Amino acid sequence: MSQPRVYYFDNNATTRVAPEVVDAMVPFLRDFWGNPSSAYGFGAQVHKHVEDARAKVGALIHADPKEVLFTSCGTESNNSAIHSALVTTGKRHVVTTKVEHSANINFGEYLEKRGFEVTYLPVESDGSLDLHLLEKSLRPDTAIASVMYANNETGVILPIEEVAAICRSKGVLCHTDAVQVPGKLKIDAKALGVDFLSLSAHKLHAPKGIGMLYVKRRTKFQPYVIGGHQEKGRRGGTENVSNIVGFGRAAELAIASLDDENTRVRGMRDRLENHILTHIPNTVRNGAKEPRLPNTTNIAFDFIEAEAVLTRLDLLGICASSGSACTTGSLDPSHVLSAMGLTPMRARGSVRFSLGIYNTDEDVDYLLAHLPKIIQQLRDISPLSPEHPDNERYNIEAARQKHEADLAHALKEEDPVTA
Ligand SMILES: Cc1ncc(COP(=O)(O)O)c(C=O)c1O
Repeated sequence: MSQPRVYYFDNNATTRVAPEVVDAMVPFLRDFWGNPSSAYGFGAQVHKHVEDARAKVGALIHADPKEVLFTSCGTESNNSAIHSALVTTGKRHVVTTKVEHSANINFGEYLEKRGFEVTYLPVESDGSLDLHLLEKSLRPDTAIASVMYANNETGVILPIEEVAAICRSKGVLCHTDAVQVPGKLKIDAKALGVDFLSLSAHKLHAPKGIGMLYVKRRTKFQPYVIGGHQEKGRRGGTENVSNIVGFGRAAELAIASLDDENTRVRGMRDRLENHILTHIPNTVRNGAKEPRLPNTTNIAFDFIEAEAVLTRLDLLGICASSGSACTTGSLDPSHVLSAMGLTPMRARGSVRFSLGIYNTDEDVDYLLAHLPKIIQQLRDISPLSPEHPDNERYNIEAARQKHEADLAHALKEEDPVTA
């Protein structure tokens, strides 16, 4: 397979596996393929490398290696945390937010169908979370609150330390989905005060199919994948050794690349965002400017469909994404942008650009050389010109005011919105 030249602006979807990570993994595919649970030396030497990787991943989040549980992905980590909390506490209520990844939203819906109750907290129009709403949502029968650390679509960072403190004061377990955070922000699981924290290796230049769940020491844990005694009895299944080793190497690299993400990558992201907002009319950033991940920008291009923009970019080898899910021919607007009160039309015209350490200024120049023309061409042929009568659908100010009113109403209510 030949490798086409891609201009990759979709690092929140997945990341290129670092060459250093590949190099670290190869021996465990080719030579050291023993089962880490085997008692003989050929297995034991592999086991040692699994434990080295555990220590490295622990160091990434300031956790003790014993608190690191390897899983198959971020989704499994999130599901496992919530499942464990429900089983060990025997309680039946879960709190999460409307802007979580589908790993939480769809798991919540699965739980609801089985008689559990799930509260999906609304967010402000900039994607931030009202902590009073969180506090009011926690009940004596709440097993766990699961609130993401940083949003994958907008990059907006949520106040997890405060979330965890509120949970602690109410005797509720706290989980955070930190999948988008490593390499971009320092993570200190202990200082955050959470009971559970999820990561996924493919977001930090390691392969797909490996994740981890931080389980704070002395937190009761009920396995989600039941089988052998691997992971000290907390997850059945023979360890994915090469991926675990790759994850460990990527964790070391992520610590080392924090500065680059926060200076060079942030600078490229800001240049891209500022250029779009100042040179392309009828554009707006979705979500708060700060606190935000240094690599992410999500921009609404009014009067056009994001999917059309992405198709044109794709023809030029440029990868970006929208939050829209294309299902059976109809485009659902992103649930994240909808929860922030964007009109469906504006949400459908929104594109996420997420940069990474392998991006260069030349990539940004290339994107900026083409994007304004693409937007103009699409607007020229769009039936939704600003004068078009349908454009009352663009009454964005009215939508924002309605969203604020809904939030104020939710705050007044005893029990927040249960979707
Ligand atoms: C915030 C967030 N949580 C969870 C996941 C799921 O991770 P995985 O693909 O490893 O299951 C993702 C992946 O996009 C994500 O962005």
